[in-house]
Amino acid sequence: MPNTEYDATRLLQLARQAMAKAYAPYSQFPVGAALVTVDGREYSGCNIENVAYPEGWCAETTAIAHMVMDGGGPIAELAVIAEKVDAVTPCGGCRQRIAEFARPDTKIHLCGGDGIVETTTIAALLPKAFEHLGDEPGEGS
Ligand code: THU
Repeated sequence: MPNTEYDATRLLQLARQAMAKAYAPYSQFPVGAALVTVDGREYSGCNIENVAYPEGWCAETTAIAHMVMDGGGPIAELAVIAEKVDAVTPCGGCRQRIAEFARPDTKIHLCGGDGIVETTTIAALLPKAFEHLGDEPGEGS
């Protein structure tokens, strides 16, 4: 774990900084996400849209991509923030992406203009997650 005194407001700050980099000309809905891994590494990301709308992706996805490319994980805590709403929640697809690299008690901080509005867990956001493909990754086929 990051040490148990990990300051979640740091993730809020990183998520805010990431949100400032959002490329969201179509939705005008900038989002930022930041996460810390169990070994204390921090990654962040913004949403990146595309004129071919389905080709855009979410802030959480960018942060997870940074983590994977750096060999990091699993996720201990993740914060997500949107400029225009309080306590934005990860979309369904991102819940599944987070779950892939999380533990059931991974904390999810839902943030807005007032800071961290609510802290929940990935298990609460995605009950009965799909995880039935077979062997765990890395255990061979
Ligand atoms: N968005 C995110 O980045 N994360 C979420 O969890 C919810 C939605 C983005 C996708 C799109 O660029 C914009 O918000 C509007 O849906």
